[in-house]
Amino acid sequence: MSIIDKTDAVLEPSAEDFDGPLLEVRDLHVEFHTRDGAAKAVNGVNYTVDAGETLAVLGESGSGKSVTAQAIMGILDMPPGRISKGEIIFRGQDLLKLSEEERRKIRGRKIAMIFQDALSSLNPVLSVGYQLGEMFRVHQGLSKKDAKAKAIEMMDRVKIPAAAARVNDYPHQFSGGMRQRIMIAMALALEPDLIIADEPTTALDVTVQAQVMDLLAELQREYRMGLILITHDLGVVADVADKIAVMYAGRIVERAPVHDLYKSPAHPYTKGLLDSIPRLDQKGQELYAIKGLPPNLTRIPSGCAFNPRCPKAQDICRTDVPPLHPVTAADGTELVGRASACHFWKETING
Ligand SMILES: Nc1ncnc2c1ncn2[C@@H]1O[C@H](COP(=O)(O)OP(=O)(O)O)[C@@H](O)[C@H]1O
Ligand code: SF4
Ligand SMILES: [Mg+2]
Repeated sequence: MSIIDKTDAVLEPSAEDFDGPLLEVRDLHVEFHTRDGAAKAVNGVNYTVDAGETLAVLGESGSGKSVTAQAIMGILDMPPGRISKGEIIFRGQDLLKLSEEERRKIRGRKIAMIFQDALSSLNPVLSVGYQLGEMFRVHQGLSKKDAKAKAIEMMDRVKIPAAAARVNDYPHQFSGGMRQRIMIAMALALEPDLIIADEPTTALDVTVQAQVMDLLAELQREYRMGLILITHDLGVVADVADKIAVMYAGRIVERAPVHDLYKSPAHPYTKGLLDSIPRLDQKGQELYAIKGLPPNLTRIPSGCAFNPRCPKAQDICRTDVPPLHPVTAADGTELVGRASACHFWKETING
């Protein structure tokens, strides 16, 4: 163990010592300065992730999923980006109040990220073994030899066949699925408390997608990490997520345990997303698509941002912003973990 690790052990309480949520994003607002004015990418996002829990964040492209993740990770483009409001509480500490030096210590070690495109995240001129080993050399002070052994061990863990023989290969010598496994290995290397996977399987073939997603879910359970799984594809999260937050125009519009969301969506946007999933039993039929496009973020519609596209919109939807309202059962009892930002959530959940 290096000196750095010993210092960490004294200064930082382990996840076990802390009994609040692992991560709590509170009222986060992020905007980007553009020629057309402020693009309001994130407009009051709240979510929590516990240790060992998987939160899927879902929404069409441009809904603010990645920007929220970049704010948590501390890699937001600033400028043009600006966090105008909010808190990001990680193990009881507001990350937004830390110095860049302190945040750097958390990045990779406590919170790690997996991106969609492994090829652009990995260095093309360095072997994967070198890049994996670097995690252990730099952060844990291991020798070259020990770091290489660790790299092979990690490649084994993510089920790369013949890891020892392939440790000196370069990124382009691996298939897309294998490269994504290497990204997962890099993210897991320092056993972080939280992993943010931003569209980790979007660039892969459908069959490979499922394998990589299963692997990620398996390792997440084994390591008892919190996982934020960002995707625009409702089809890939059903088996791996505990709960889902649906985002639209920088807001969470519905929140629910995963099975409740599939069974009884309480927001017309979620309903639209569910209806757009291709189903085997409806082969040949034309696929439903939500009409229109997400709004320009410099000119978000007044009232409910979804109103121009919503088949259920009424007058009130064009004037009043619907708050994220707890969803209750017919007898009035609150349904645990459920909320919807629709004026007509009752009609939606029942219809
Ligand atoms: N670096 C940037 N510069 C300017 N605007 C940005 C930048 N990154 C994101 N945005 C704005 O934030 C919006 C939301 O982006 P993002 O969070 O990446 O969406 P997604 O839900 O697809 O991950 C984008 O549509 C864009 O308007
Ligand atoms: S508030 Fe109105 S416009 Fe928005 S989702 Fe509900 S019904 Fe549709
Ligand atoms: Mg994104």
